[in-house]
Amino acid sequence: MSDIVFITGATSGFGRAAAHRFAEAGWSLVLSGRRGDRLDALEAELGDKVAVHTLVLDVRDDEAVQKAVDTLPEPFKRVRTLINNAGLALAPQPAQKVALKDWHTMIDTNVTGLVNVTHALLPTLIEVGEGATIVNVGSIAGQWPYPGSHVYGASKAFVQQFSYNLRCDLQGTGVRVTDLAPGMAETEFTLVRTGGDQTASDKLYRGTTALTAEDIAEQMFYISTLPAHINFNRVEVMPTRQAWSAFAVDRDD
Ligand SMILES: NC(=O)c1ccc[n+]([C@@H]2O[C@H](COP(=O)([O-])OP(=O)(O)OC[C@H]3O[C@@H](n4cnc5c(N)ncnc54)[C@H](OP(=O)(O)O)[C@@H]3O)[C@@H](O)[C@H]2O)c1
Repeated sequence: MSDIVFITGATSGFGRAAAHRFAEAGWSLVLSGRRGDRLDALEAELGDKVAVHTLVLDVRDDEAVQKAVDTLPEPFKRVRTLINNAGLALAPQPAQKVALKDWHTMIDTNVTGLVNVTHALLPTLIEVGEGATIVNVGSIAGQWPYPGSHVYGASKAFVQQFSYNLRCDLQGTGVRVTDLAPGMAETEFTLVRTGGDQTASDKLYRGTTALTAEDIAEQMFYISTLPAHINFNRVEVMPTRQAWSAFAVDRDD
């Protein structure tokens, strides 16, 4: 029987690349996201190679998440790896200029959504035990402050600490937890963040070499297939051409 991976946010970026990477290795796939047409397309692409179960699912809806997990078809029930990837940043303006609803959407998705899926799948992962893995997609923004990161960065700091705390409670179950924290990667992330501004997205990635979705999918696969006695607590991955910068200092003219 093949291993089963449950991927949230499989309709784009890292999640979609992860679907391809795990399929390449013969894993059965549970793929979720809100855009059903994209899930159908993925199933059409990968369904010949591996077993695919798609779920049109908003991770913010705890009841829908629980129902989706409870009603997984038999061949997809014993999930061995959970890729908690669904997430988004909104409103790159300074905090004081951002609508409260954008803050709420980030918290509801990146924090509450991730917690919803984790809670629903924990019993299964514990039953699978040794070698079971949760990969929580954090961000460098969870550790390094920068302008316009406000609630997004804070939500990813939650992901890091939640991952570490889970590790404490899962001690002895064999279930591993990793906070996978990427730096700049070219996906639809900036398009979403800027409310669909393709020019802004192109500008951010122009003239440099960002990470690709495939780079991160490779890390997800690697973390999930490490020998069972190894747990990577946190994996922070940046493009070589990205680094930190000096502190900002407010000066008199
Ligand atoms: N790209 C970067 O530079 C970067 C860096 C660090 C961390 N990250 C993190 O990496 C993760 C993936 O982002 P990405 O770069 O691959 O961006 P992306 O291309 O925009 O993909 C985001 C995915 O999340 C899903 N999603 C968003 N809200 C959802 C909801 N309420 N319910 C279910 N699914 C939802 C989207 O699917 P639907 O719209 O179909 O629901 C989509 O599949 C996110 O957690 C992001 O914060 C990205």
